[in-house]
Amino acid sequence: MSKKNHNKVQQLVAAHQTGYALDRAFYFDQQVYQTELKQLFFKHWLYAGHSVQLAKPGDYFTFEIERESIIICRTKRGEIKAFMNVCRHRGSRICLSRQGSESSFVCPYHAWHYNLDGELIAARNMSEDFVVQDYNLRQVKLAVLGGLIFVSLADSPLGLESINNNLSAVFALYGFEQMKLAYKQRYVIPANWKLAVENYQECYHCGPAHPEFAKLHAMAKSPQQFLAKKQAYWQAHCTQPKFQSFDYYFNLAEAGQEGFQYDHNPLNKGVLTGSQDGQAVAPLLGELTDYSGGASELMIGPLSYFLIYDDHLVAYQFLPSAVDECVCEVSWLVNGNAVEGQDYQQTSLTWLWHTTTEADKRIITHNQQGVASQFYQPGPLSPMEGFQQQFLAWYLAALN
Ligand code: FES
Ligand SMILES: [Fe+2]
Repeated sequence: MSKKNHNKVQQLVAAHQTGYALDRAFYFDQQVYQTELKQLFFKHWLYAGHSVQLAKPGDYFTFEIERESIIICRTKRGEIKAFMNVCRHRGSRICLSRQGSESSFVCPYHAWHYNLDGELIAARNMSEDFVVQDYNLRQVKLAVLGGLIFVSLADSPLGLESINNNLSAVFALYGFEQMKLAYKQRYVIPANWKLAVENYQECYHCGPAHPEFAKLHAMAKSPQQFLAKKQAYWQAHCTQPKFQSFDYYFNLAEAGQEGFQYDHNPLNKGVLTGSQDGQAVAPLLGELTDYSGGASELMIGPLSYFLIYDDHLVAYQFLPSAVDECVCEVSWLVNGNAVEGQDYQQTSLTWLWHTTTEADKRIITHNQQGVASQFYQPGPLSPMEGFQQQFLAWYLAALN
């Protein structure tokens, strides 16, 4: 980015008034967006999927963010690898399907042939001095945390040790590695990605926009009521590793480590899980033996969010596709032994977060339409938008 453009972004950052919503330019300006690409999306770890989606060698899925497409596959030796879905000949996309199973990858343009490790193994009619080994696919950094696959487009990605060390007991308790992907849905939202992420981070809107969620989750109440309920809940149960809180997110991340946040919060009285009637929708996860009346929130990096109920996990990926569009991919995961139709029904499992995400999509779209107005002026934020404010402070600092 040129110095002039960098200065423009810096001026916008300097002009931001703490405690207020962002200025219009942050949602529309291409230079801001280009800075975000470099400083955020391509610097941090991004949740791409679960290792259970790659059951056998040759299984793959693609992960798309902005204009980038990454192939994530199980190799012949059983490892999970990631490489750019960009042919080393003239750059064509290689895998055109979002998921599948192949014994090798053949570029659809001129049929260059790559093995499951991303190595070029054949290229038709090239000159005699052509060296196949020089044209392997570009590898992408990949890490698996409790079965969750993360990728990073950074040359030197942030460390993940802090997450691993602090959360391994939580991953084990909920059986993260042994889960099963029950359902996945993409929601295309015609709005800047930050409006979607900011919306996810505050529950000020939960009361008016999500009556279904508010009926189940105590956090939709006023901050005072919620805090009182949370204190009583933690005092009553606090023996399991899920009753912990880690705040290493945003500006609190350890130096050189990826940021994360984990917390366990109460559900309303009598509610077991996130479902239409609050009752169980799938078998208990991992080592759990009973419902605790709570749910955990986990965030890893700026775009990957997880909501852990006792009987299922909901994974949220916010993926920018353009300055004014983002994709929200929601995955529902259950106990690896659960059988659809017998132990869970897809419609009842997905009901709450499908309903909630459709509502979020509507309010975020209206938000984008409103901030597009030349008369939009950033307004003051509520204490119930405290977490969003932390995010904004971190976000603005990250643009530097
Ligand atoms: S672009 Fe892939 S083989 Fe030509
Ligand atoms: Fe919402």
